[in-house]
Amino acid sequence: MEITPQADKAFGVVVEGFDAETASAEDIAALKKAVYTNKIAVLKHQDLSPQQFLALGKRLGRTAEYYEPVYHHPEVPEVFVSSNVKETDGSQIGVPKTGKFWHSDYQFMPEPFDITMIYPQVVPSKNRGTYFINMAAAYEKLSEELKLAVKGTTATHSVLRYFKIRPTDVYRPISEIIDEVNAKTPPVVSPTAVTHRHTGETVLYLSEGFTLSVQDGDGNDRADLLHELLEATGQLDRTYEHENIHLQTFEKGDMLVWDNRTLIHRALHTATPEPAVSFRVTVYDEDDLVA
Ligand SMILES: [Fe+2]
Repeated sequence: MEITPQADKAFGVVVEGFDAETASAEDIAALKKAVYTNKIAVLKHQDLSPQQFLALGKRLGRTAEYYEPVYHHPEVPEVFVSSNVKETDGSQIGVPKTGKFWHSDYQFMPEPFDITMIYPQVVPSKNRGTYFINMAAAYEKLSEELKLAVKGTTATHSVLRYFKIRPTDVYRPISEIIDEVNAKTPPVVSPTAVTHRHTGETVLYLSEGFTLSVQDGDGNDRADLLHELLEATGQLDRTYEHENIHLQTFEKGDMLVWDNRTLIHRALHTATPEPAVSFRVTVYDEDDLVA
């Protein structure tokens, strides 16, 4: 197994010679350390079934089934399916157009995932890739004034704005759906700046997709501060040229493994999408500090 920095990128490593079936405990530890240190690892030349993909996830930590079954792989429910391809019988497996907004996975839940693994199955010929922002590095780049303003504030996160209604929701009153979403996934509150439990970094924990509001210590809404932070970190840049934005491309056989507590991401979808399917496994890592 060989781990090298990605050429011409601000962060991320390429991992050659990683065999999920024969990887030793040391290989897994080295992979996790590379993920926390470099934020994203691209495992090359992977050829795994959904079952083998899940088995690899289990070696990194505790895998989780997504709370909405509509995303589940039919045979392996812990594999989340993002797909714009219909089956031959016209049915839809997984959900199309996922993640087209800045977020981290499960940021709207009390316990976000530590590691996200994405394994593209059908790779578009152009416009493939995912945008990322490292929110630990973005925090460090804030002005001293903004860092001070963040101190003592909390952020409220919810899935509501980007919750995808299901085919069975058609003709239901939207108020009923909103009530249901709030009952199932109530908004969660966290410090706006959190300490990364594996690296000790200070991470700005908010996203344009899931963060509804920022409050000061007295509970006053700080919409101005939320806007300033989204702006400063690059999340409002629709040209995607902000210096914090990293475009991660991939090809068939690649598997992306990233630090979901530090990185926020956003899918790159185009107006005229090509067929694209990817599998995802998400992991809670309860190990001690590794980096
Ligand atoms: Fe995501």
